[in-house]
Amino acid sequence: MFTDIFLRFFPEQGKMIKKHVLGLSARLLFFIIPVISGSLIISGSVTGLYADRGVKKVMVRLIEYKAEDLIRHSSSQWNLLLENNLQNDPAYMESFENSIRSYSLTMLQEEGEWILAVDEDNSIVFSVGSSASDDSILESAGENAPGETGDIWIDGNFGGESRLGYGFFLPALGWTVYITELRQTFYADLYFIRWNYIIMVLLTAIISSFFIYYYIHRSLSPLKTVISDMQNIVQNRNFGKRVIPVQNDEVGELAREFNLMSDYLDRAMTRLKNIARSEIEMRIEIRNRERETLEVLSKVSDHKDPETARHTSRVGMYASLLSELRGDSTEESDLMRWSVPLHDIGKVGIPDAILLKNGALNKTERLTMEKHVIIGNEVLKDSASPILRAGADIAISHHERWDGSGYPGGLKGRDIPVRGRITGIVDVFDALTTARPYKEAWSLKRAVEYIRERSGTEFDPELVELLFANLERVEAILIEYGDE
Ligand SMILES: [Fe+2]
Ligand SMILES: [Fe+2]
Repeated sequence: MFTDIFLRFFPEQGKMIKKHVLGLSARLLFFIIPVISGSLIISGSVTGLYADRGVKKVMVRLIEYKAEDLIRHSSSQWNLLLENNLQNDPAYMESFENSIRSYSLTMLQEEGEWILAVDEDNSIVFSVGSSASDDSILESAGENAPGETGDIWIDGNFGGESRLGYGFFLPALGWTVYITELRQTFYADLYFIRWNYIIMVLLTAIISSFFIYYYIHRSLSPLKTVISDMQNIVQNRNFGKRVIPVQNDEVGELAREFNLMSDYLDRAMTRLKNIARSEIEMRIEIRNRERETLEVLSKVSDHKDPETARHTSRVGMYASLLSELRGDSTEESDLMRWSVPLHDIGKVGIPDAILLKNGALNKTERLTMEKHVIIGNEVLKDSASPILRAGADIAISHHERWDGSGYPGGLKGRDIPVRGRITGIVDVFDALTTARPYKEAWSLKRAVEYIRERSGTEFDPELVELLFANLERVEAILIEYGDE
């Protein structure tokens, strides 16, 4: 959703970000590793907290146990004195006190432990395991005295040091005994365990991250191979090629589905190619038939004409050449090739008496003869074929003259359609250069001269010059398609 909003406002930047967006493996890593590490740390911390509390409890219990042990020892000793009625014997009492001191000494296990006994006057009876000054000891002991009412748990400044411990009253001697330990020593094991634990959790997180990375990378590598194969196929449009399913899992399934799709596309493309090929073949066939029909039509117009059979084909070729020379498109010059031969098709509507008359036509006959341009146009103009419609234009305009003295419209200069202007030139040129019942074939030179003389009056001067500037090509057509 955020991406959509961002893309709407910043489409360009959005595309750039999308392009550089994290890959699937990176996204999995960024998701899984924090989740695993977080879970490890949370579960570890909770377990660690309980372990911490457990260890602390054990250690407190240990101090209490020492206190109980000392109480038990002194009680048994004191009971022994009472049984033998020696409680008032100073020598036995001294030895009793000494035994408690020595017993206390044996209880010291680690550096920082301290057992202190003070009498009812708050004077030190004995102090084992510490070198704290008397003043600070007494002050602390006074502040922490449990009295006869009960025991006391010490946590804080004791003898000028931060200590934890237990204070209790020994009624037999009227002593208060303190068994304490330096806070630092007391917590040393706990700290050790705690640090060890933190290191273990971090190491586990790092090692598991590494394995997760390795596993994801390995799991995704077949996918990358499949994607790369797919890209190759799509880029080269080579749908005949197949992606090799590396594994028999979802990735393999993807590859197989892609192959099925490629198969389908391959078949569809082959089918399309075949259709396109037959379409082209069909078009060629239609075009060939159309041309054949046009040839037949042209021959019909030639049939009664004194002009020779090849006249219509040649004028088509000359016109096509001139169209090409003036820079028309291939389509246009091709159109000229097939439409110009139809220029005199209207002659089929002219009575034979006039069409085949030997000698000059009178005015009425000439006017009737001139109607062939109108008839030709009428016959062709409504055709669906572009060639026939072009033939209609040519039929009506091929007897117009550059100076406006032609027929039927008396059009002048560029008002005459260019197809008509072209046909006007090549029609006369071909009539001159080939033999007719009433004349010999003129030489090329003579024909060129004849047309040049009428350039600018009868013919478009630019087209005349363009044609004669390429006389060798004109001659090539004449030689190849000339009458036998
Ligand atoms: Fe004509
Ligand atoms: Fe002609």
